[in-house]
Amino acid sequence: MAEELRFDGRVAVVTGAGGGLGRAYARLLAARGAQVVVNDPGASLAGEGENRRPADRVVEEITSAGGEGVASYDSVEVGERIVQQALDQFGRIDIVINNAGILRDRTFHKMTLEEWEAVYRVHLFGAFRVTHAAWPHFRSQQYGRVVMTSSSSGIFGNFGQANYAAMKLGQMGLANTLALEGERYNIRVNTIAPYAGSRMTEGLMPPDLFAALAPERVAPLVVFLCHERCPVSGKKYEVGGNWMAELRWERTRGLQFALDQEVTPEAVAGGWEILSDWSDPDVPTSSADAFQVILGGSDGRSSK
Ligand code: NAI
Repeated sequence: MAEELRFDGRVAVVTGAGGGLGRAYARLLAARGAQVVVNDPGASLAGEGENRRPADRVVEEITSAGGEGVASYDSVEVGERIVQQALDQFGRIDIVINNAGILRDRTFHKMTLEEWEAVYRVHLFGAFRVTHAAWPHFRSQQYGRVVMTSSSSGIFGNFGQANYAAMKLGQMGLANTLALEGERYNIRVNTIAPYAGSRMTEGLMPPDLFAALAPERVAPLVVFLCHERCPVSGKKYEVGGNWMAELRWERTRGLQFALDQEVTPEAVAGGWEILSDWSDPDVPTSSADAFQVILGGSDGRSSK
């Protein structure tokens, strides 16, 4: 049997851990020996109100199973307090899972500034605040693991979720750069797009699918991404119902005109088929790599 992946001596902050996915991450990390800050202000799905019960309950579950956890009731908007609590309580911080989330669904033409801003503050600003507060500790100890939470809404779009989709893909953009900046400090930053039955998706799917998508079926991948043996950074995964896959950017080979050619909109229209030809995709893995095709003259096919 494979050796158990342990987290003894590691301290984790899991935001939005009072229920759903965050609770499953916190419990699994604690069961593997991590000391866990269970962060949750106990807000409603829309991000309103406060309730200490959800975070307290998860800490109780962790301690009654023999693990170690502490409740934190701060909003991720004041992320430095959550990180400070990890330091005060457990003396270090090794892992941040940016999981907190709310919804303020509305079609774009009816969306208010407040609805946009509220979703921004929890998902993107909150992920920034918590990670930014942990970052100096990660650098100085030459160790850190971060998981960002994106969504298929951001990757593909979802009707009525312009605010949420933007912030969820924003977390992925943040992770892409943090993975580069963290590389020499052994800080690994990866992103997941989960599919889970939680209060966020309750009523949106039949009960058997809801049960199949238990948060506990997302947690093993997330916990592995938090382990010291995690071999990757800057990667993206879709995960749910015991299924998991890596996601990446691709592009077509492209349409290259000669540089001495005057390119007209009509020429673009004429080359549309080549521009959109996915038969032999190109998979750049860095922005330098992506730019190379232009710098070096295209290996794409030119238009007639
Ligand atoms: P959930 O609603 O059970 O969990 C979100 C938690 O975040 C709640 O416990 C809530 O109290 C907490 N929270 C809200 N505002 C907060 C704040 N300001 N600071 C700290 N915590 C706060 O929903 P679920 O499904 O477990 O969601 C977890 C994450 O996964 C979210 O980021 C969500 O957007 C994302 N997600 C979930 C999907 C799903 O299928 N359930 C799909 C794609 C993404």
